[in-house]
Amino acid sequence: MDNDLGQFLADLKTRANIKDVVGSYVQLRRSGSDWVCCCPFHNEKTPSMYVHERQRYFHCFGCGKGGDVITFVRDIEGMSYMDAVKKLADQYHMTMPEFKADPEHEKKKERKDVLQSIMLEANRYYYNNLVNKEDGKPGLAYLESRGFGKDIVDKYRLGVSLSEDGLQRYLRLKKYNVADLQACGLVSGQNNTDFFANRLIVPILDPNGKVVAFGGRIYKEEDKGNPAKYKNSNTNEVFEKGRCIYGLNFVREDRKKGIRPDELILVEGYMDVIALGAAGITNVIAGMGTALTEEQIVEIKKNTQKLLVCYDGDEAGRKATSKNAPMIEASGIDMKIVLLPKGMDPDEVIKAEGAEGFKKYCDSALNLIEYRLKLCEEAYDLDTADGRQKYLKACIVALSDLDSPADIEIYSNEVQKKVGVAHETLIFEIERYKGKKKLAAAPVEKSKEETKASIFNANEGDRQKLISSERFVLNRILHGIDYTDVNIVPDEWFNDATCELVIKWARIKSKTPGGIVIGDIYSDIPDSELIDKIINEDEELKKFRNNYEKEKAHYVYCLMNIADAYLLRRIKELNDFCMKETDSAEIEKAKRQISILSSKRFSKVLEDKYIDF
Ligand code: CTP
Ligand code: MN
Repeated sequence: MDNDLGQFLADLKTRANIKDVVGSYVQLRRSGSDWVCCCPFHNEKTPSMYVHERQRYFHCFGCGKGGDVITFVRDIEGMSYMDAVKKLADQYHMTMPEFKADPEHEKKKERKDVLQSIMLEANRYYYNNLVNKEDGKPGLAYLESRGFGKDIVDKYRLGVSLSEDGLQRYLRLKKYNVADLQACGLVSGQNNTDFFANRLIVPILDPNGKVVAFGGRIYKEEDKGNPAKYKNSNTNEVFEKGRCIYGLNFVREDRKKGIRPDELILVEGYMDVIALGAAGITNVIAGMGTALTEEQIVEIKKNTQKLLVCYDGDEAGRKATSKNAPMIEASGIDMKIVLLPKGMDPDEVIKAEGAEGFKKYCDSALNLIEYRLKLCEEAYDLDTADGRQKYLKACIVALSDLDSPADIEIYSNEVQKKVGVAHETLIFEIERYKGKKKLAAAPVEKSKEETKASIFNANEGDRQKLISSERFVLNRILHGIDYTDVNIVPDEWFNDATCELVIKWARIKSKTPGGIVIGDIYSDIPDSELIDKIINEDEELKKFRNNYEKEKAHYVYCLMNIADAYLLRRIKELNDFCMKETDSAEIEKAKRQISILSSKRFSKVLEDKYIDF
């Protein structure tokens, strides 16, 4: 980061008191030396967001969101980071330092502004066609027939293209040049034909409500045979299709009005968002069709903890669900799948059963394993022995992806009931299949990261225990509790790479005059999600409320966990080394080290855990 900027941000964060800033948006109540309020980023009735004035950060135990004063303003206003900085600087009468204007950067920004204003003008033009022109009437009538009245046209800023050349004539009158219109993907070909000619227009808006692209749907009787029912802007200078999630701006507008549903619903496209919106269901977002990228999932995760995936009840919708749902789940979003009746999309469900009907399907959404088992059930005929056998095989494959023995127990019960196989047999088959998969996946040579991961193959519980131990220790160190010592844990003890970064950061900060200020970590370490989790360990602390000795004992217990996991990792590495090494002297040396490490692992004294070779 630019040094001047870094210093400026530090000053700004000191000056713009986080308690005052947060307090200007929500009602704060005192809680000990801190402040507490209802979290403005998710829906709740009992306050779980804490604002720590001295440490200059906020954190919500409900949704896990946290940050410093700048990211608070950024997220609640839905603005960019630098805009939030400017807003606060203005508010606190601080002059932004003169950054060396990077001419390259300035030029890019100017160009972006021009293209942006073209998109906005185009949207105005299409909207005006629809609402004010005689020729726009058939478009309005079509929308009306789908249940989209004037309020919906206005909210979603719908429009219509009435000719091939109207758009470019209008925009040229406004003094925009043709090359820029082309860059926006609005016109193409020799005659600069409107890309969306003779279609109804849906502007695609970014989370801040800026027009970044368009979608167009045929609507005229004579176009019915056109195979391209929908057409969307291609990726261009202003539009990255693979990052775009439609509908977030409406969700944010709702939030500002205090409408904060717990979950968002992901549908296939903007038309479904609008159809649900027309029925009063507004917590809905969409990709651009059924393809979903990792980037889009990241964008979704920034906006919700809980997601209902609700694709069409046809073949394509099912396929897309099977492909996207595991990706979404892997990202850590709490996800469920809504199964719509065969062949129907959300729009049709609303038509047939109303908003209440649609909500019923949402209420009986399935988790990923339930969904996979359901697909198995649908695929085979359980009335025949052959069908049952194939069904069972498919279920074993699905169940073997579960880590938790408790989950395997629960879901295999369901399967067992359907085919009448003995419980032990089924569990045995699942374990056998898991073993097969592991063998097939076993790497020949393990990297350091793989060794780190592999010590948990056997036990998910151990992994959880270690992760929370690492977070707990960091949490206490960051808070500067008197029984902690920032130098007690060697960097390499940490299994998690970001945790290792955090301890390094803390050690450096502890040597500066200001000491550790938690609020600073948000601009210094990029993985804010992990930071949130570390701060969330405060929850764990409630167990020890007012019992200093117990809390301290837990801290030592966590340190021991971390040390033992580290020793185990080293032993594994040495074992792997022995397998490959041919020099017997080297092998002997490694074996001696292994035996020393093993005795350290079994020692009950923390001091014994340190190694000096
Ligand atoms: N979609 C899209 N791009 C496409 C095709 C579809 O963005 N090339 C979106 C549409 O916006 C629509 C959703 O995906 O919201 C569902 O598309 P599809 O099932 O093809 O549409 P239909 O339900 O047949 O369309 P409509 O309801 O308008 O008749
Ligand atoms: Mn539809």
